[in-house]
Amino acid sequence: MEVDRQWKMMQTEIERLRSCLSGVKERDFSEHSIYWGKKSQSVATAILNEFAQDGFRVIDPFLGSGSTIYGALNSQWNLDLIGTDVNEQPIHQAIFNLEHCEEKSISAASQLLKSFIDKNLGSYKYSDTKGREFVFQKARVNIVENMPVLQEIWLKDDESISAIDRNNPEFDNFEKQYRSKQASASWDIDLELPVNSRIAVKSGMKISNLYSPINFNILLELRELVATEPYLNGVLSSVLHLCKYTDKGSQSQFPFWYPKVDAYERNILDLIQKKHGAISRHVKSRRADSQVSQISSTYFLSQIPIQNLSSKFESKTFDLVITDPPYFDQVAYSEYLITWEFFTGSKVDLQNEIVESNRVDSNKNRERYLSDMTTGFKSLREVSKDNSLMFLYYKDARLGNIEAILRILAESGWKFKGQMHIDRRQFTYKQNASKRNTVEGDCLMVLEAQVSHEIPEPIKISPEDLVSRINELAHEYLAAHGASTLSTIYDNVLVPFLFSNGLLGKFKSPGDIVNILEEQFETSIETRKMHVRK
Ligand SMILES: C[S@@+](CC[C@H](N)C(=O)[O-])C[C@H]1O[C@@H](n2cnc3c(N)ncnc32)[C@H](O)[C@@H]1O
Repeated sequence: MEVDRQWKMMQTEIERLRSCLSGVKERDFSEHSIYWGKKSQSVATAILNEFAQDGFRVIDPFLGSGSTIYGALNSQWNLDLIGTDVNEQPIHQAIFNLEHCEEKSISAASQLLKSFIDKNLGSYKYSDTKGREFVFQKARVNIVENMPVLQEIWLKDDESISAIDRNNPEFDNFEKQYRSKQASASWDIDLELPVNSRIAVKSGMKISNLYSPINFNILLELRELVATEPYLNGVLSSVLHLCKYTDKGSQSQFPFWYPKVDAYERNILDLIQKKHGAISRHVKSRRADSQVSQISSTYFLSQIPIQNLSSKFESKTFDLVITDPPYFDQVAYSEYLITWEFFTGSKVDLQNEIVESNRVDSNKNRERYLSDMTTGFKSLREVSKDNSLMFLYYKDARLGNIEAILRILAESGWKFKGQMHIDRRQFTYKQNASKRNTVEGDCLMVLEAQVSHEIPEPIKISPEDLVSRINELAHEYLAAHGASTLSTIYDNVLVPFLFSNGLLGKFKSPGDIVNILEEQFETSIETRKMHVRK
């Protein structure tokens, strides 16, 4: 088949990618920032070591936490790096990590922080009936009419931390102090949040609802302090998600969700001080093992929506793209970052954000997401050199969505060359024991900036012929490569075959394809590789 022949000719980039990423960690989080969907810096380093060269102009137009830039700065080449994002918080956080985490800023901030803490510590001071003093660590509360009702309190004296609940004779005393402190907090500034049921923002909900009154007050004071202090601004930014009410493990990914029962409230001064301490130690240890670097890459980071790249940069000047766009309705970045805008001043851009959202005051449906992605990737294509490569993270369990993305990329001048899943090194017992009907790990697609656009047209094929073609392709692949993981068969033959014949959307999920394969192939529990059923 012509399509298969073409596909085999295109293999080289994917093989190079697979080999340069072997052994590279899918996740590493070494910088001081909070972000959703952080990617690995080491992956960016490995890709650039393999595919770039000195002087390459590299762009990540969906910068997020900055993993591409950090990774690129560790590569062996002198690069010209550009990182852009529709929101300012990612840019500020990257600049914080790259420029403000240094000894001079840290020691200047230590003084300011100390006087801020001295001034505000009263809000967290408690005394027992014998007059002994304690400092509030955290509380477990139920929230009734926007006020926290104390269930358990953790207090620290010079020696230790004690958890005090209703069974403790001192509880009533502490509860009284807690109630009066919370009741005395008041403010004259607040913000009504845009309603979006998917991310737990109800009608009439205000930003102050996310915090205990004491904590909201302290945050408002910090807001003034960090307005002129970029280092402290960065520290606050990186702990802001922990300052709100959370569940026990502060696990929720939703910045606007909080439990009404058994919500936890923490000491913000402590959070800030601990983060500041961790950064100081990190910077000292970095200095201790620093070597003189030969690399002198430069970087430029700026708040620019991808749709506007072609009006900001000269056409055909970028040599390589590594990026990770928003995935349909998965994370409402700009909406999430409204909290950061409120306290740290980093501007959000709800208007230009690419997202599928059910925010009531917006019209960002699926079609709008796809049309904004098309405009964005066309703009990126204009500033990229012909035949340059783009490494794009994209994963969605719905194959109709993958098909739609690959089509808009083709329409925007980006030709799909293949994809690979980055292996997870370790699987949990549960994952190992379960049916292997998913492809695990992050997925990286490789695309090439095309001169002429080719958009695959769907071919006509009966369901039976489609099943037998899939089995044939898997047989051919296994005959050539020996037992292989599901993801290699899926990435190397099935997705390219299905996409280039307009058939990817015929399946709901990768699981449907696995079900076809499982008729004839089986997977070894030990190696997770598929072989022909005996
Ligand atoms: C999946 S995240 C990137 C995560 C990043 N790879 C990391 O390691 O942290 C997608 C980013 O796209 C940004 N974004 C959304 N719409 C955009 C647009 N129109 N132009 C540029 N960036 C946009 C979001 O603010 C978000 O930071």
